[in-house]
Amino acid sequence: MIKSEEPDKFLVLNELARRRGFFWPSFEIYGGAGGFVTYGPLGKKLKLNIESKLRDIFVNRLGIFEIESSIITPGKVFESSGHVNHFKEPMVECLNCNKRFRADHLINEKLGISLIDVEKMSLAEIEEVIKKNEIECPECNHNLKEPTQFLTMFKTLIGPYSGATGYGRPEAAQSIFVEFNRLYKMAREKLPFGVIQIGHALRNEISPRQGLIRLREFTIADLEFFFDPEVAECNMINEVENEILPILLAEKREKGLEDTINLTVREILDKKIVCSEWQLFFMVMAKKLLISIGVPIEKQRFIEKLPWEKAHYATQCFDQEVYVTRWGWIEVSGHAYRTDFDLNCHMQASGADFRVFKELEKPIVKKQLTVKPKMAIIGPEFKDKAAELVGTLLKIPAEEIVESLEKKGYYLVGDKKISSNHVEIIQQKNIIRGKRFIPHVVEPSFGCDRLFYVALEYALTIKDERNILSFPKTIAPIQIGVFPLINKDGLNKKSKKIAAFLRTEGLLVEFDEAGSIGRRYARADESGIPLCITVDYATLEDDTVTIRDRDLWDQVRVPLGNLPLLLSDYFKEKIKFKDFGDFIKSK
Ligand code: ATP
Ligand code: GLY
Repeated sequence: MIKSEEPDKFLVLNELARRRGFFWPSFEIYGGAGGFVTYGPLGKKLKLNIESKLRDIFVNRLGIFEIESSIITPGKVFESSGHVNHFKEPMVECLNCNKRFRADHLINEKLGISLIDVEKMSLAEIEEVIKKNEIECPECNHNLKEPTQFLTMFKTLIGPYSGATGYGRPEAAQSIFVEFNRLYKMAREKLPFGVIQIGHALRNEISPRQGLIRLREFTIADLEFFFDPEVAECNMINEVENEILPILLAEKREKGLEDTINLTVREILDKKIVCSEWQLFFMVMAKKLLISIGVPIEKQRFIEKLPWEKAHYATQCFDQEVYVTRWGWIEVSGHAYRTDFDLNCHMQASGADFRVFKELEKPIVKKQLTVKPKMAIIGPEFKDKAAELVGTLLKIPAEEIVESLEKKGYYLVGDKKISSNHVEIIQQKNIIRGKRFIPHVVEPSFGCDRLFYVALEYALTIKDERNILSFPKTIAPIQIGVFPLINKDGLNKKSKKIAAFLRTEGLLVEFDEAGSIGRRYARADESGIPLCITVDYATLEDDTVTIRDRDLWDQVRVPLGNLPLLLSDYFKEKIKFKDFGDFIKSK
């Protein structure tokens, strides 16, 4: 029974996260640095489990390649990709305290103008709005300087030479694009294929104030899926055609409306709402991923981005959003149709050829005519005019000369008559077997720290004024707690043995003997441990233990011999806690 009103889960979680070791702000002994967090022992495990979900869906089940490359990237890469020109945010600085703020966020917060409308504004328009409305520094209420564009990539030098600029990558996508030729070979030169990279990204956010939601260093999972735009059908779309996606269209958003419509994949296709079948397929996978980490579909939506909100490389973009108590809807993944934009940029700038060859179903046969002047005859006959005559002849389409020779018996160059004696007519057959083109790309891009945050928020329930993290069992950072009822009479020793045995069975086990059993259950609930095994006096007599369920707070007595199969089935989601009793009876 939930007694209290819905609290601000952000505050509860931040406190719990520090205390239990999920995450905390980094570098606190030096006063901290905004936008950086440290994941503690529980948090790191939870984050790895969430990343494993991504790997399970995309790498294990769909056969997407996974690669890992460097975070520091030569300047040329982000100059060519357009990031150096576009990866900027409008910024204002206080004339008095010199604090700097995102100009669009400030206008949104002070005047309530929607971010959609502010993002449309030019720097001059932003300046006008700030002046007209006398917007001041939110920290010290002094005037602000005129807005400027701030490049949100971290810039550095590679090595000791001042010319070698490097950037911290703001996305993991570019280091996939630049390796396209190698990766295409590894895909046996066949489209479609995909490559994912899960790793750190750096963005020098102007004023990160939203905990895990807006970090300066975070984990991104960029999946680049390459396909032939002429064969753009997704061969798995029928398998998901009845899946429902909540969609908020750009045309509604532009009018300030929030009408999300629930559409099946088939309806979305028929209405041509998403322009790539593959992009739609990945949106369905993203929905499933979020459900699997505990976010129900009613708390998810896909919003279509407006033209001025889209990244410079995208022709169409949908953001997957999740509702959280502190900020309302926040983006957790972006789904962009990047076309051939990035491969093309890198081709132009580097000279690498990223075109792939496609065989035509039926080769095309093209006849080619060539007229070759016979110098042995033209030379003596036209003497000093011969070279000029040959130069002119070579510029004339062969078909024109041949047609004239066939119809009139000669071809006139100025006043000079050329007959079939003067030239050799060569006929060749050219067989065109295929063509070269640049593959198109759709990209789902997930922010793992935001996935982590929403998994925490949706796991949190408060029951009898106690925090419980009811993670789905497949992402729980610890699977089993093993506790001696009391710390004497051999119960401790027996518990340690059971814990060690369960570890050899591949389970993530925590042994806890500190404090009363009630306090240990409470700690386990706050750490999100789905099942706790308690060893009591009966265990010493008949080798049975109690298993307590985190969410139901119910217990069942189980013979030790049944534990391996029972727990393995439970964590594979083949059996529920409420059926444990029947399972034991059936053995
Ligand atoms: P926002 O509009 O919230 O700044 P974005 O549109 O810049 O996000 P993308 O460029 O699409 O985000 O990045 C891909 C994903 O990376 C996002 O869906 C989000 O989950 C995550 N992400 C982006 N910026 C940050 C950040 N500063 N901290 C944590 N995660 C982030
Ligand atoms: N690669 C996703 C993004 O940066 O938007």
